[in-house]
Amino acid sequence: MIPPLPLAFVGSFPDPRHLLEPPGAELVLVGRSNVGKSSLLNALAGRRKLAKVSATPGKTTLLNVYRMPKGYLLDLPGYGWARASKGDRTAFRRLVDQVVGQRPSVRGVVWLLDIRHPPSEDDLAMQATLAERERPTLVVLTKADKLRRAERGAAVVQRAGELGMPADDLLVTSSTTGLGIADLRESILHGLDR
Ligand code: GTP
Ligand code: MG
Repeated sequence: MIPPLPLAFVGSFPDPRHLLEPPGAELVLVGRSNVGKSSLLNALAGRRKLAKVSATPGKTTLLNVYRMPKGYLLDLPGYGWARASKGDRTAFRRLVDQVVGQRPSVRGVVWLLDIRHPPSEDDLAMQATLAERERPTLVVLTKADKLRRAERGAAVVQRAGELGMPADDLLVTSSTTGLGIADLRESILHGLDR
């Protein structure tokens, strides 16, 4: 068992270029609004209220930075929240694109998709950005507890087909039950080691 990651909140920054001190390798959590980024961060840390979670999408609005032993984990606002104002949506999207596309200190991306749903247009746009920028990416399926155990395998194969990826490359998780969280901790620590 990999123990919880000791994550410490550093701060929230509106500027996607904000420089962290001391500099370190950064991993970024990205995904649609409400996909479970902040919940996953809390599960990784084994803490319930480190990152703000809400039933109302759009809770995370800034670049939120957490210190890890060997670098940083960045929690970003979700993309594609239909009910956000147009201005907010544009601003969130720009923040995410600038961090994912242009931030030099980003070592890799942890990209979250809901296990239950095919990738949205916004998801496919993110996949294109990740490929174009050649970002090392770990694909994580969230909310596996929402499917019956017997349904999960088929869902993973479906998501893999839609993404054009081998099913084995998708990490199945649940922040609620802890499924896959130890594996994800290991991948994250390994990702920062490289
Ligand atoms: P934004 O910050 O708005 O982009 O959302 P987010 O991606 O950070 O999602 P968040 O972690 O705030 O979770 C959104 C909702 O999904 C909350 O109601 C969570 O309780 C719920 N949720 C997150 N992860 C899981 C999970 O693994 N299982 C279940 N059942 N619910 C989850
Ligand atoms: Mg969030």
